[in-house]
Amino acid sequence: MAKPKRRYICQACGGVSHRWQGQCPDCAEWNTLVEDAPATVFSMKHDLSSGGRAVEFVDLDKPGKMPVRQATGLAEFDRALGGGLVPGSAILMGGDPGIGKSTLLLQAAAKIAREGHGVVYVSGEEAAGQVRMRAERLGLSDAPVKLAAATGVRDILTTLGTMPPPRLLVIDSIQTMHSDTIEGAPGTVSQVRGCAFELIRYAKETGTAMVLVGHVTKDGTIAGPRVLEHMVDVVMSFEGERSHQYRILRALKNRFGAVDEIGVFAMAGEGLEEVANPSMLFLTGRDEPLAGSAVFPAMEGTRPVLVEIQALIVRLQSGATPRRAVVGWDSGRLAMLLAVLESRCGLNFSSAEVYLNVAGGYRLSDPAADLAVAAALVSALADKPLPDRSVWLGEVSLAGEIRPVAHAGLRLREAAKLGFGAGFGPADAKGIPQKLRYSGLRQVMNLVDQVV
Ligand code: TYD
Ligand code: MG
Repeated sequence: MAKPKRRYICQACGGVSHRWQGQCPDCAEWNTLVEDAPATVFSMKHDLSSGGRAVEFVDLDKPGKMPVRQATGLAEFDRALGGGLVPGSAILMGGDPGIGKSTLLLQAAAKIAREGHGVVYVSGEEAAGQVRMRAERLGLSDAPVKLAAATGVRDILTTLGTMPPPRLLVIDSIQTMHSDTIEGAPGTVSQVRGCAFELIRYAKETGTAMVLVGHVTKDGTIAGPRVLEHMVDVVMSFEGERSHQYRILRALKNRFGAVDEIGVFAMAGEGLEEVANPSMLFLTGRDEPLAGSAVFPAMEGTRPVLVEIQALIVRLQSGATPRRAVVGWDSGRLAMLLAVLESRCGLNFSSAEVYLNVAGGYRLSDPAADLAVAAALVSALADKPLPDRSVWLGEVSLAGEIRPVAHAGLRLREAAKLGFGAGFGPADAKGIPQKLRYSGLRQVMNLVDQVV
């Protein structure tokens, strides 16, 4: 019989090599190739004597028991989850260090424990005393949460096996966990994946809702464990600028709900406070209109949020290459808009530095913001404010046309409710008076006439 060929599988990308190498030829990660165990061939006898167990089928058309979701006690967290924690589900909570993941989860843990449900919070980053100190500061130290400082997955699972399964299990963080059956230091891809696998199996078998905290690397992916994203049911990301107060909890993947709902929080002295009505949050709240500022009615899930976009243009005397800096928006998109404004509207930005900022640490990705950005740029260039209490929405094409956007009516109604009566938008947007409908970018310039 021929000897079976050895195979080595990259633990990061799944690439297959036929010899061991230090670096994966597919994804260039180091020390990720692991020999694959040779596959065992089962006998194909169709009875149960070969050691298999009968699989239980359920009928799709027969009513089954719907799992009851557990509310976290934080309505904004529940909203982002699509209505609470599903029993037996695994949630990956990603975010920059220091953004408030531990705080959010401790708050949710305490609320669930106060309702009389079992909650276990395992911290691999802080000592139990440190977590308790934080709980005291948050006014939660009386909640019957079981705290442990541990990093060994086998110890954690053994201990959990001796007690009734908790309603919620928090593992903070998965990168600090370690399994002695797997090689490598904590935080390596194989450790993270192996530990998560064992913990998820526990959650599924016992019906425990489990949250795994995952740190985000510089490039924005949840560190190493991209693989984790496939293993868990829900991937959430906790975002915001650390220097700003506001935090947004977003579902990037959700097997049990929509991914476009967000939860909005404010980080205060006593932990995270929920922001139930975020529509005015990202406005600077000044009364006088300023040159270079435009308001965009963004959509967050089903809720409109007004966001202020600020542009600053500095003319350069020397022939130095002008800077373009963007915070909260895509720099490629800014370059495109500048090019459209130059070639379709005859404006000249080539010797000017352009700075664009989305106020309040908000991050915009909606193409409907194009018109608001263009209006802010034109207003900054002309040094004239846009009409008071106006909002701008529309996608800008390369030809300089203003394209329709989704939910225009809803956005404009919300803006009007908040006193922003003038909505400038695409020609076919319902609810916009005729004189405010724009079909082309050139019309923006009429507003701030005589742009240089
Ligand atoms: P933390 O939850 O430890 O972040 P993560 O787990 O995502 O790393 O939050 C840490 C930051 O939050 C820290 O910089 C201090 C701030 N903070 C407050 O402003 N108020 C509070 O009540 C708490 C507990 C933390
Ligand atoms: Mg933490």
